[in-house]
Amino acid sequence: AQQKKTIVTLQAPSNTTINKHIYGHFAEHLGRCVYGGFYVGEDNERIPNTAGVRNDVVAALKELQIPNLRWPGGCFADTYHWKDGIGPKPGRPTIVNSWWGGVTEDNSFGTHDFLNMCELLETEPYLAGNVGSGEVQELADWVQYVNHAGESPMADLRRTNGREEPWKVKFWGVGNEAWGCGGNMTASYYSDVYRKYATFMSDWTNTGGLFRIASGANVDDYEWTETLMKNIKHNLVEGLALHHYANVEWNSKGPATGYSDTQYFKTMQSAWKMDELVRKHSAIMDKYDPKKRIALVVDEWGGWYEVEEGTNPGFLYQQNTMRDAMIAGLTLNVFNNHAERVRMANLAQTINVLQAVILTKDEQMILTPTYHVMEMYKVHQDAQLIPLSVESALYTFEGETLPAVHTSASVGKDGKTHISIVNIDAKQTHQVDLNLGKSYKNLSGRILKSASLNDHNTFEKPDAIKPESFKGFKQNANQLAVELPPFSVVVLTLD
Ligand code: AHR
Repeated sequence: AQQKKTIVTLQAPSNTTINKHIYGHFAEHLGRCVYGGFYVGEDNERIPNTAGVRNDVVAALKELQIPNLRWPGGCFADTYHWKDGIGPKPGRPTIVNSWWGGVTEDNSFGTHDFLNMCELLETEPYLAGNVGSGEVQELADWVQYVNHAGESPMADLRRTNGREEPWKVKFWGVGNEAWGCGGNMTASYYSDVYRKYATFMSDWTNTGGLFRIASGANVDDYEWTETLMKNIKHNLVEGLALHHYANVEWNSKGPATGYSDTQYFKTMQSAWKMDELVRKHSAIMDKYDPKKRIALVVDEWGGWYEVEEGTNPGFLYQQNTMRDAMIAGLTLNVFNNHAERVRMANLAQTINVLQAVILTKDEQMILTPTYHVMEMYKVHQDAQLIPLSVESALYTFEGETLPAVHTSASVGKDGKTHISIVNIDAKQTHQVDLNLGKSYKNLSGRILKSASLNDHNTFEKPDAIKPESFKGFKQNANQLAVELPPFSVVVLTLD
């Protein structure tokens, strides 16, 4: 018989910190993410900006406390030559974006623009190096250019271009999707290539050690993880990537809005696969790295659907509904619960591309349901993980089932406990009984919900979906009963 209630038991806080870098974002030169999204040009008089970067975007992302931002790709990274994006803008060569829409870019948003923007956002940059079509020297030079404090060819060039102090960039991707757009390499060939590139990436002693991330597996390619963990010397790597996108089917992704119940259920199945992927890739990593020194970095995740009608298919512009809020809530709970190994992740992508947190149209900007989930969950950043045991009720659809309720919990530095709960069931309210282990004096909650699953914010109604105060819970001694409406995300604060 189907269990009616979900039972969640909180254990004592663990020694594991939920690394804030799990809440990272991604900005590729793709469609209107960088150009038109982040960057509108220094001369733009219509859209308020700081050195060409939209002020409204900066304010919204600061509110999210985004911990890191990955750039310039994605597939674009393995075509990008950073030296073309420095120096006086009028003299810069162009680049054709061969992966995304075939558009010609003027390289006006380059290394200085990105790294200065990260300072504005108070976020850490994560630079993705070109391994596919670049050279070892080129990547070594980039590290020297942005990180070397003394006198050196690249640091001197940086100064000539107006920046005295190094930016001290810690996070570096050594290629992207090396199994595909990054060069169609085999795992064993890439692991040798990786070793060579990583060897010449000097730390220049000012970042506390570079954090080098190897291009990881495509979804469930466990052989890839196995080979890299075996072949790459562990003193050369700090993180191993993993990419997984949620959709109905890779070859028939379905629309971003107006999807059917079947398409919704299939997307939830695909999103929930992240749990299995993280477990299985981690188990392989555990064999070679039992002390968990190397992080699993899920540097691309999110929902990927068909583009909005009338938009460039290469620009990957899609709307963002309550389905995306479910993906975000569920996936972030998975990452939190595996925080020992998953120590960094990047939602794809920040603005106007795939599962964006922000959409822009000329001067207008809207925040998506995904933005609101990220904002509600920021309480977990750098908090201590509270392990849970969960017996979830089921979400049943046409004879198939998924756990309906997905939860994670943590205790922050201020001593407050936060519990994030998602009910992905499209139709049923679910009751969750939480065994707290003690009773709390002050309890409050926030909820993200809407009347219809397909609901989303639009430029006409930008605040149709936003978090509200939540009172659907009752404490009885050490127990808390919570009622979660269908397709809703709740974050509780207990003190
Ligand atoms: O995020 C869009 C694309 O998805 C990235 O460029 C690539 O790495 C992945 O295939």
